[in-house]
Amino acid sequence: MARIISASNQGLAISRVVADLRRGRQVALPTETVYGLAADATSGEAVAGIFRMKGRPSFNPLICHVDGLLMAEEIGQMTPVAKRLADAFWPGPLTMVVEKLPGSSIHDLVSANLGTVGIRCPKGITRSVISAFGKPLAAPSANRSGRISPTSAAHVAEEFAEEDLLVIDEGRSPVGLESTIVKVLDDQLVVLREGAVSREALSRDTGLPVTSSDASNKVEAPGMMQSHYAPDASVQLNCNSAPSGSAWLGFGNRPVPPGVAASRNLSPDSNLTEAAANLYACLKELDGLGAPLICIAPIPEEGLGIAINDRLRRAAAPRQVVEKSVNQSQGISR
Ligand code: TXA
Ligand code: MG
Repeated sequence: MARIISASNQGLAISRVVADLRRGRQVALPTETVYGLAADATSGEAVAGIFRMKGRPSFNPLICHVDGLLMAEEIGQMTPVAKRLADAFWPGPLTMVVEKLPGSSIHDLVSANLGTVGIRCPKGITRSVISAFGKPLAAPSANRSGRISPTSAAHVAEEFAEEDLLVIDEGRSPVGLESTIVKVLDDQLVVLREGAVSREALSRDTGLPVTSSDASNKVEAPGMMQSHYAPDASVQLNCNSAPSGSAWLGFGNRPVPPGVAASRNLSPDSNLTEAAANLYACLKELDGLGAPLICIAPIPEEGLGIAINDRLRRAAAPRQVVEKSVNQSQGISR
């Protein structure tokens, strides 16, 4: 059974999870984006345990969480551009994909042999856990592969109900969407996943052009698989109405369509930050009520709305895509 411990008794929470990490175990940790399933990034066995618990395709690399620039410099090539981004956005919701340092202690399973490593410095108690542990933590979101990311300790406990897993509870994840992932090159930044750190902010801070990866033919960030973050119900986007008996996820002051079985509102005030923070919890709640279809009101394609719509399109994508990708991968079953 998952065991939840509060972050409010910080010393106790840290010492308990660090003891588990030292034994090569996995622990669930809060971050400002979503909760992560963490393990010692230098131990192949500990990292393999994450893949096992998530049922994650083996080609999918994991983000290394560090407590700051110094630790990042021990594992990846922190170029002047990368340092500048670290200075501006760490700790915070930005993952940088950089060259992995030869001789880095990070296990090859973490970077899926890509020769690069995704590095992020999270806020909150997890940063202190990393400092106390003294080594980077590999941590994907603490959900089973292809499902909605958890934004509370209760979500994690539900997802891994049958696992013996320690979960630190630091309340609701304030951002609510996974980090922005950017590949750092000397002359440009390539956004692999949209998140709370916007393209405009990245470009403003570095003066570099920000481009998108061509994800269509290359698994550069497999979290970009077309169907991902999926609830059990079918999902329909940009709805102005909803069939009776379906669930409704609203935004702003648009009225709830008549006849729906249940409804939630991401942000009655049309605030995109609030909507991002509520997104996964609302999807989970509606999904838990068992409606076959969740209809979602239009969300403006601006600011954080870009990242929200990106996640929603994946939640709405045909499910065979993820089944196929998972089945094609070697070794790890769901
Ligand atoms: O906000 C977040 O990033 C959360 C919290 C826990 O930190 N983590 C998270 O991890 O969302 P995960 O594993 O669910 O998604 C990480 C994404 C995956 O799509 C993975 O493919 C990509 O990061 N990634 C990791 N390392 C990479 C690398 N070296 N090159 C390209 N993509 C990488
Ligand atoms: Mg994930």
